[in-house]
Amino acid sequence: MTDYIKTKKINNISPTIKSGGNKKLYIETYGCQMNVADSELVVSILADNGFSTTDDINSADIIFINTCSIRDNAEQRIRGRLQIFKKIKKTKPYLIIGVIGCMAERLKNKLLEQEKLIDIIVGPDAYRDLPNLIKIAKTGQKAVNVLLSREETYADISPVRYSSNGITAFISIMRGCDNMCSYCVVPFTRGRERSRNPESIIEEAKDLVKNGYKDVTLLGQNVDKYNWEDTKTGKKVNFAKLLELTAKVSPSLRVRFSTSYPQDMTDEVLYTMAKYKNICKHIHFPAQSGSSRILEKMKRGYTAEWYKNRILKIKEILPDCAITTDIISGFCSETEDDHKQTLSLLEFAQFDLGFMFKYSERPNTYAARNFKDDVPEEIKSRRLTEIINLQNKISKSVKQKDIGKTFEVLIEGTSKKSTEELFGRTSQNKVVVFPKKNYKKGDYVNVKITDASSATLIGVTI
Ligand code: 5AD
Ligand code: SF4
Repeated sequence: MTDYIKTKKINNISPTIKSGGNKKLYIETYGCQMNVADSELVVSILADNGFSTTDDINSADIIFINTCSIRDNAEQRIRGRLQIFKKIKKTKPYLIIGVIGCMAERLKNKLLEQEKLIDIIVGPDAYRDLPNLIKIAKTGQKAVNVLLSREETYADISPVRYSSNGITAFISIMRGCDNMCSYCVVPFTRGRERSRNPESIIEEAKDLVKNGYKDVTLLGQNVDKYNWEDTKTGKKVNFAKLLELTAKVSPSLRVRFSTSYPQDMTDEVLYTMAKYKNICKHIHFPAQSGSSRILEKMKRGYTAEWYKNRILKIKEILPDCAITTDIISGFCSETEDDHKQTLSLLEFAQFDLGFMFKYSERPNTYAARNFKDDVPEEIKSRRLTEIINLQNKISKSVKQKDIGKTFEVLIEGTSKKSTEELFGRTSQNKVVVFPKKNYKKGDYVNVKITDASSATLIGVTI
């Protein structure tokens, strides 16, 4: 859930593509890429019901906040935003405020009792009901739908890519998660795993290509469990097959995916990646810990040794593949020795990038019900700092190795620092900045890397 995963606010930036009408929707999105994709569905559903998006919060008739529950600090940030919305509502009594997504699902009606300004609460599987809920809210009643579904994949809804750069897009291929990692709230907020009809996925990819998009990311909480069976023909499509079908849409369309679950990622996926140049050589491969004892308590289903062997396998089949990871520090009962094993896993794997978090107990999860959150805050913080410092050092040294190499880069836009420079990404998902010349957004260029800063590679087109 990379650029995913860090809980962040994603702004509305572009004008409406599918113009709805004169009622104005302002939507803020927090959390993972899945939430970004969901907001695009929500905008689409509302566009069919007379709403256009606005990036001016003060002119909105409806404010939606698409929320994340992954850690307590994600929820606290959202509560902070709600206080700002409350001030706006005081001057505009007709304003409707909706909380949608994971936090809505987790807290349900309780959130209405805690935050009186909210008019609508909608969980991730109930977005089709939004037009109806808005009607109810307009009568002054509170409107709630937090039903989870075993079937809903929104396969027939064409997302409105309202904040897109016109080059990269997400395609949601499945919803929910059945893994039940002991620390994780997602199975509670997003329900059971279900795969979307591959035909609708391929149609969406073709449509994106027609509209000039060049890079799609297939999204799911655990893409390796993607599994579609045609009830009439009995034909099955697994994730490797879906990747192949998407890669075949167009050789100039880059295909990415997120997130892989180490236990479920097959060699077939790796060989499919090797076979198609346009399947990007990047795997987000969350380890969570380097201690087998902790991994068992996390119910991850693999040991540190097993994970390391998977890393070796990726490097064997895909020598130029970037690998990124997620780490949780300070999980229940974690000792100094467990922590050292995590540091040693980082050394072993030489990840290109890591997303690192302090363990945050989530109510009702297996860990919350069965283990004590017993690593003191200052120890969690110190260990997290050690993990971050080590990973930063590794990321930097991995980047240094790219100096002198040439990468094919898909241009995504003008560099933030200078209008004379463009930026784009390599197949490995690394950001590269280079002089503009006559190139433009959407072009593929070969860039020779001459330098590396902490976050980006710097180069020249050749
Ligand atoms: N506390 C801290 N980090 C968590 N993550 C998931 N649940 C928690 C939690 N309770 C992290 C994991 C996951 C990423 C999306 O967020 O590393 O891969
Ligand atoms: Fe995404 Fe929901 Fe998980 Fe947050 S809690 S990372 S929004 S699935």
